[in-house]
Amino acid sequence: MAESASNGTSSGGAPGRTRVALVFGGQSTEHEISCLTAACVAGAIDTDRFEVHGIGIAKSGTWHRMELADVEALRTDDGTLPALGDDAPCAALIRRPDGVVMAGVEDDRLVDPVGVDVALVLLHGAYGEDGTIQGQFEMLGLPYVGSGVAASAVGMDKHLMKVALAAAGMPIGPYEVLLPGQWVSDPVACCDRVAARLRFPVFVKPARGGSSVGIVRVTDPSGLADAIAYAHRFDPKVVVEEGFVKAREVECAVLGPRERAGLPRTSRPGEIVVHTDDAFYDYEAKYLPKSGEVDLRVPAELDEAVEARVRELAAGSFEAIGAEGLARVDTFVTADGEVVVNEVNTMPGFTQLSMFPSLWQASGIDYRSLITDLLDQALGREVGVIR
Ligand SMILES: Nc1ncnc2c1ncn2[C@@H]1O[C@H](COP(=O)(O)OP(=O)(O)O)[C@@H](O)[C@H]1O
Ligand SMILES: [Mg+2]
Repeated sequence: MAESASNGTSSGGAPGRTRVALVFGGQSTEHEISCLTAACVAGAIDTDRFEVHGIGIAKSGTWHRMELADVEALRTDDGTLPALGDDAPCAALIRRPDGVVMAGVEDDRLVDPVGVDVALVLLHGAYGEDGTIQGQFEMLGLPYVGSGVAASAVGMDKHLMKVALAAAGMPIGPYEVLLPGQWVSDPVACCDRVAARLRFPVFVKPARGGSSVGIVRVTDPSGLADAIAYAHRFDPKVVVEEGFVKAREVECAVLGPRERAGLPRTSRPGEIVVHTDDAFYDYEAKYLPKSGEVDLRVPAELDEAVEARVRELAAGSFEAIGAEGLARVDTFVTADGEVVVNEVNTMPGFTQLSMFPSLWQASGIDYRSLITDLLDQALGREVGVIR
């Protein structure tokens, strides 16, 4: 391929600004929400400090170059969600001796190369939150916001996450893992094991899902086989958990340490309140809530000791999976005030109205400062395993 400029660091922006590759969209079921997030971030990022170049990943997986205004224009306020097509010019990231360059691709030429200093990855789910794209940035030698390869992969897998949390002494609920071979070779034995070891209701989940996709609440053993077969459509590995009945869903936002030697920082916790009986925080409740069905309470009304416990477990869970940058730790608070960790999300919802930014807003860090904090953390960190 020919390249139209000899120097990969042309920018057109003010000198001295940090050049950010804003990566969003993606191949997962959370493509649309990622596009909306990118539009929110593009509108709020401190452009005196940061020069932003977008990389929109279409659902097909192709990468497209987009400028800041194009990303901002994806914003919707009418309840619909934006998505990317395949038509914009393609984008390439290339490692050169003097740094990483992003370029457009036209026919067989690279055009308008710009140097980039850091990637702000706003992807959720498969190929975004699971360590795969993080590995790509490690290979490029490009610092990036958020957890590394291993923590992202562990955070994505509800089985491995529970193993890491339990090993670090974090309280988690009873569960059974159905490995792919076990379910295929003897489904009856799988159902019998679950029914013998767990109290109903149970939650049947694809191990590496997100946004509640594929999750079914099962009230008695007769519903198990269908629910497991359904979860199996999304992931050959299935996790079944004992359901917490009448527990409150309390979430805590975590930021990595400001200083390299510091501890993770935790926000005031918030609460998800789902008002319909027997409903849970499923895909519809997350993205298409009917009015009055779901409330986010920020901050949550909790006893001081329970709030302190949630924050302690949030920091402990962040460290247990080796998270970096940011994470949202979701807990159940039982009727007698016991706190149990449900999951760690290494790329939590990040629109202006999402729980994670709302929790930091209530804890003294506004949306713009939050974006700057994440980029500063990424820039202060070395990439790769060879230190
Ligand atoms: N063990 C459980 N007890 C009670 N409710 C649960 C349990 N597991 C999941 N849920 C409900 O299902 C929702 C989605 O489950 P979660 O494990 O958080 O999956 P996802 O990674 O898709 O967000 C939770 O927010 C909660 O409402
Ligand atoms: Mg969840």
